[in-house]
Amino acid sequence: MIALHINIDHVATVRQARQISEPDPVTAAGLVELAGADGITIHLREDRRHIIDRDVRILRETIQTRMNLEMAATAEMFAIALDIRPDIVTLVPEKREEVTTEGGLDIAGAAEIMHKGIAQLRGAGIRVSLFIDPDAEQIKASQKAGAEDVELHTGCYANAENSEELDREYQRLVSAAELAHQEKLQVNAGHGLNYINTQRICGLPHLRELNIGHSIVSRAIFVGISQAVQEMREIIIRNS
Ligand code: PXP
Repeated sequence: MIALHINIDHVATVRQARQISEPDPVTAAGLVELAGADGITIHLREDRRHIIDRDVRILRETIQTRMNLEMAATAEMFAIALDIRPDIVTLVPEKREEVTTEGGLDIAGAAEIMHKGIAQLRGAGIRVSLFIDPDAEQIKASQKAGAEDVELHTGCYANAENSEELDREYQRLVSAAELAHQEKLQVNAGHGLNYINTQRICGLPHLRELNIGHSIVSRAIFVGISQAVQEMREIIIRNS
């Protein structure tokens, strides 16, 4: 079955709005795991706008499933990852002024620091996933860069404004998933997925993991975090 990794960044966003200690993403991670998540995803951003270093340290000790650390390919972040040793590192592009991660990584044009960092992470036994647009050039470059996984950016699919655009974006994801599998990369996907558009994404060929954050944390405000996780898991079970 497709694994569900839940991104709990926005629990920390609410905490940081007041700069106090609640709600604690560590508590959220425990509840999300009890509700059936297969992994916990967190993004330590350069500006520490939601997840902070303290969360990363404590979560490394408390997560019982798998810890997926999203981060930019910078010297600072590679050093943190090599110290903390998450199960998976997902490299993402990062801009200070963006509201959320905007596009996929440019692996094809990646700088030396990225290749060196990937080799160091893999040498330390950390699985490396690259968050990329569903694009053939980026997939081939990801394979060459030494990644084990790619996470296909589903943002354009999620933001499609009409059914033709939706079908076109879905087909791009299908082709990208086929190619990534052919290149021996594990196929993951995420960004902008919710209780409506995830159903079709579950039909992507070779899909192994989903990373979903905002929609689950949003729903949790109204129905509670356990129910929000279980409802998403049911969508995945029904469509896997
Ligand atoms: N995957 C990656 C690489 C991301 O950067 C994000 C957002 O932090 C997500 C998945 C989750 O996206 P969303 O919050 O829209 O579900």
